[in-house]
Amino acid sequence: MDQMNMSKLQEFDYLLKIVLIGDAAVGKSSLLLRYIDDYFEDTYICTIGVDFKIKSLEMQGKRVKLQIWDTAGQERFKPITNCYFWGSHGCVAVYDITNRETFNNVRTWVQDYREHNSIESGQNIVLIGNKKDSGERVVSFEEGQDLADSFEAEFLECSAKSGDGVSQLFETIARVIVTKMKHELLVAKDPSAYSIKTRPVQSESNPPKKKGCCS
Ligand code: GTP
Ligand code: MG
Repeated sequence: MDQMNMSKLQEFDYLLKIVLIGDAAVGKSSLLLRYIDDYFEDTYICTIGVDFKIKSLEMQGKRVKLQIWDTAGQERFKPITNCYFWGSHGCVAVYDITNRETFNNVRTWVQDYREHNSIESGQNIVLIGNKKDSGERVVSFEEGQDLADSFEAEFLECSAKSGDGVSQLFETIARVIVTKMKHELLVAKDPSAYSIKTRPVQSESNPPKKKGCCS
């Protein structure tokens, strides 16, 4: 292998596939836009199907590349978005603290995620209450925390509008996944597992072998 290809391979230690899930208009795309471009858009433009962005960061001395999939919350896109859950390492489940229905629906989103991504190492979840900047809160912090506890997930409130907590949210899901991966490598009986640094990311050209919504 030539030097250029070698250096490309060594660009990162972990490649993590993360999906953003939750009802329409809770602010998934806005959180991603804030994180990637540090920008906020007031106008609502619904996501059609899925979109994704890449971000690299340094964590626990490792280079981590995040592949973040932003899924559409509208019901009509469910068959498409469910397909993207498979093979991911974790999800960020988002609700809007000013809209109780979006909070009530989070449980179903997480169930769907778990059903369509039944690999053990992909069950990392961070729960997010978005629109913290708004004065029209109807879901308390404690309710969010209780729900997160029931998922054994970490919980944060944030605002795509002000930027409050946004970097923290993506760093949290990355940390949760990396910590779990390191632990899995440590307890792995097969010594060759120690040399595994990345997990395969599912793509259309590399479809899932096991049960999935599209297979
Ligand atoms: P879908 O793509 O349909 O699933 O929606 P989404 O979850 O991606 O929501 P999107 O990011 O498009 O935001 C929906 C609306 O909420 C937009 O008008 C945003 O400007 C607004 N919004 C998003 N985040 C915040 C926030 O933190 N605070 C406030 N006040 N408004 C927000
Ligand atoms: Mg969107």
